[in-house]
Amino acid sequence: MEAPQLQTEREGDAGVAPEPLLIARNITKSFGHVQALSNAYIDVRAGEIVALVGDNGAGKSTLIKVLSGAHRHDAGEILVRGQSVSINNPNDAFDLGIATVYQDLALLPSRDVVANLYVGRELTNNGILDRRKMTEEANRVVRQLRTNLPSVHTPVRFLSGGQRQAVAIARVVHFGAEILLLDEPTAALGVKEAHEMLTLIEHLKEQDKGIIVVSHNLAHVFRICDRITVLRHGQTVGTLIKEETDSTEVVRMITGADLL
Ligand SMILES: Nc1ncnc2c1ncn2[C@@H]1O[C@H](COP(=O)(O)OP(=O)(O)O)[C@@H](O)[C@H]1O
Ligand SMILES: [Mg+2]
Repeated sequence: MEAPQLQTEREGDAGVAPEPLLIARNITKSFGHVQALSNAYIDVRAGEIVALVGDNGAGKSTLIKVLSGAHRHDAGEILVRGQSVSINNPNDAFDLGIATVYQDLALLPSRDVVANLYVGRELTNNGILDRRKMTEEANRVVRQLRTNLPSVHTPVRFLSGGQRQAVAIARVVHFGAEILLLDEPTAALGVKEAHEMLTLIEHLKEQDKGIIVVSHNLAHVFRICDRITVLRHGQTVGTLIKEETDSTEVVRMITGADLL
């Protein structure tokens, strides 16, 4: 088998690829005595899907939380569109166009898709809710992402888990997210719904979003991603280009078997 194509080996063709939307480098984060991240690196470009993989406890969720402002990192640098930024809370991330869709989605079950897309930012016209405009806009977003949602007037409680996640994704895209962080978006879904979610993620890529997706399902990873970043014990041990690798090699990097 060929040697893994590491990030550093690709820097020679930097002139070809566009500048990454987001780069996180040398990220460290500890929780008391637990060093969750010690030297984590990831980057993502517009119109690209990067999978973040690693064994349980490798630090994937911690890295996502650092990028989304849920955790502050101890050291390291984050660049967004080439600028060094500080992300101290979820609002900072939001202002930079970074959005995370968590499993426990903060949706209002009794309200319809339109209301959930606009919660907290309703459109008004002379102080009156502009339902027509919100419905039009909601339909536009749902069409643009080619989700499998039924009518935008369906209360969220009637939607499946995958459809609810689609609403949550449509909401952050609608509010300007360009960098989407998805932590195990298919873990709680059945087979059919998981594949619909993967298709939705591919549509986000077509909309030129930069997407980082955590998954332990390598079949899903290989279906949708462009590159695969492997974390082991809080360190990025390499980034692989999908076409140049296979699941055997990825598993070896995840487990450290390539060291033996
Ligand atoms: N809030 C926390 N407090 C203490 N330890 C944590 C916390 N979050 C994560 N950890 C620890 O950090 C390490 C990385 O966890 P995590 O990022 O959740 O890994 P992964 O998502 O790759 O499974 C683990 O050892 C985990 O127990
Ligand atoms: Mg996790």
